[in-house]
Amino acid sequence: MFFVAPSLLAADMSRLPQEVKSLCDAGADFLHIDVMDGQFVPNPTDFTPDCVAEIKKHATVPLDVHLMVQDPMPLIDDYVQAGADNITIHVESQGDIYKTLEHIHHNKCHAGLSLKPNTATEKILPYLSLLNRVLVMTVEPGKGGQSFMPNQITKIKQLKELKTAGRGFQIEVDGGINLETAVLARVAGADILVSGTYVLSAPDRARAMRLLRGDL
Ligand code: DX5
Ligand code: ZN
Repeated sequence: MFFVAPSLLAADMSRLPQEVKSLCDAGADFLHIDVMDGQFVPNPTDFTPDCVAEIKKHATVPLDVHLMVQDPMPLIDDYVQAGADNITIHVESQGDIYKTLEHIHHNKCHAGLSLKPNTATEKILPYLSLLNRVLVMTVEPGKGGQSFMPNQITKIKQLKELKTAGRGFQIEVDGGINLETAVLARVAGADILVSGTYVLSAPDRARAMRLLRGDL
């Protein structure tokens, strides 16, 4: 079974409540929210905790918060309170990754760990017991609309091998997902497909999400 998490990075921010409703009604499994601090990646995003709390009011599916920030620990409580159901941090971030993941769990929230394209799969090994999700970046993090990096397929396959250890995490793939690349990611072992540009610009978002899952 495959899940689709449309990324609100590609949404029309001037009508965010309508966008949230449109994606939930169209069958999104999660809403993916990219939080960027302008340091870990160059361009900051407007998904503050207040903004996420506003999204939560209109959402009927769980919120998947992807923190592309230098130091995630000080932000965890605010995003949990805002309504995050899963928080994914980057293994390349600063601070104590283990303690940050533990802190997410203490807040009764699911926890994920993300790997940039040049980060080796083995980097997740110390944290396996704490992971609900592993997020494979298939573009350099920082912006939408980039091309899928096929060399990340090996990483997805390696993670599939590791999946039974720890909590039996789900594999989430983020960046450049479209009809063709979704097939590659699914065959390699992805469970959750994040999609910004492809789903948000589709004339029929419900159909686009079914196509990504391979249901049509
Ligand atoms: C990129 C973000 C992605 C982005 C994906 O740094 O993490 O979630 O929204 O956008 P597309 O699907 O356009 O590559
Ligand atoms: Zn993302």
